[in-house]
Amino acid sequence: MDDRRDEARRGDGADPYAPATTALDRGAFEADPAAVAARLDADDPLSGLADRFSVPGDALYMDGNSLGPASDAALASLDRVVDEWRDLLIGGWTDADPPWFEVGERIGAALAPLVGADPAEVVVGNSITVNVHTLVGTFLDELLAGNGPDRAGHAAADGNWNPDVEPAVLVNDLDFPSDHYAIRAQLRQRGIDPAEKLRIVESRDGRTIDPRDIEAALGAHDDVGIVFMPTALYRSGQLFDVARIAEAAHDAGAYAGFDAAHSVGAVPHAFADAGVDFAVWCTYKYLNAGPGSIGALFVAERHHGLTPALAGWWGHEKATQFEMNLTYTPADSAGAWQIGTPPLLAAAPLEGSVELLREAGIDRIRAKSLALTDFLIALVDERLPEVSVGTPRERDARGGHVALEHPEAERLSKALTDRGAVVDFRPPNVVRVCPAAPYTSFADVLAVVDRIEALLESGDHLAYAVGEGGVT
Ligand SMILES: Cc1ncc(COP(=O)(O)O)c(C=O)c1O
Repeated sequence: MDDRRDEARRGDGADPYAPATTALDRGAFEADPAAVAARLDADDPLSGLADRFSVPGDALYMDGNSLGPASDAALASLDRVVDEWRDLLIGGWTDADPPWFEVGERIGAALAPLVGADPAEVVVGNSITVNVHTLVGTFLDELLAGNGPDRAGHAAADGNWNPDVEPAVLVNDLDFPSDHYAIRAQLRQRGIDPAEKLRIVESRDGRTIDPRDIEAALGAHDDVGIVFMPTALYRSGQLFDVARIAEAAHDAGAYAGFDAAHSVGAVPHAFADAGVDFAVWCTYKYLNAGPGSIGALFVAERHHGLTPALAGWWGHEKATQFEMNLTYTPADSAGAWQIGTPPLLAAAPLEGSVELLREAGIDRIRAKSLALTDFLIALVDERLPEVSVGTPRERDARGGHVALEHPEAERLSKALTDRGAVVDFRPPNVVRVCPAAPYTSFADVLAVVDRIEALLESGDHLAYAVGEGGVT
């Protein structure tokens, strides 16, 4: 494994919260949850990081799975690029330190350890939706050209696809909608009817997807050429078993792609070792790079050299990009899936924020995140009988947030946010609470539950209007 991959896993694999989480045993917890929270916070090796994030006033910010807060590190790298723009103008592309020209590759390499990839397999560019378009489009083109996944050790993945079979894409009915819009469009653009070929695995409970249903769909349909799944569901926060899904896809002769928006920065990944073909994610959630910050993608090395479906000059081989040839030579790296000029100001904060996360160590972030969500779930079970936990309770099936289900979820979300506990609502009945590890304390989690309890007791949330739409 590459050194950079090792480095991000700092923390020696030990769970620094293990001694503290034993405090969650019922006796101690019922006696005094504030004392439990204080003990967990006192033992927390990441507690010092909170001071390096800006959360206004005494807000309890539990929405970092939508938009992470600013950090001193992110603002410093943004300021640096603003200064370079002012001082160097066009010269910044070559003379800034480091030069802007290879920003996509450079920050991609910094992100690679967080997803278990080699530096050339990750690039930052575009947005999730655009990256779904270009990557699903690329692999549909491969299938239509007769090329399957060719994955060593997988009998069905022999590199061949029958070009007479129109490929289907397997997704699920709890996906983030934009992904389906993009995949349907890519199918349509190739004359493939999405009504038939976007195959949708249905949830049994409206919250989670059973991996056996993905495997059953692959067994039932031999036209699936791409399995495209989330690493974590945006509503319930269910974490998927990426390696299991990738293996099932390859066994069925299909490529395995993932939308990792709800896990990168909160959960360590091993995309290369898991055999993932491609993945997309954003940087404005757990990577804390700011509103509308640049997207990111992974393409396994064995696919480098393919022609991206959405080709553009920024994905051209770097050495000859400025020769301005009218024929396109894709870069021999994930960098090929960049399209146009990278938005420097939307990439700059990521540089600082990734360094901050790497300093903390993704394994330690995951360990704290699990301890925080354990604590939250235990408090909800204990104190909020009207609220159900919609997130799987098994640790390895839980991402970074907890879905609290209540018939008045929308009103509760608004009332909580008004009272300084910033959460969000996802229809029909979910309040998402995200105690992100870098800047959330166990005392914060207790305070949020206190506020939910107070609202449910007073009924004050019932004064809020519902169904007004907008960004929540
Ligand atoms: C899981 C998931 N996929 C896709 C998207 C769309 O991302 P973008 O607007 O950056 O294209 C989002 C946005 O929040 C998301 O949460």
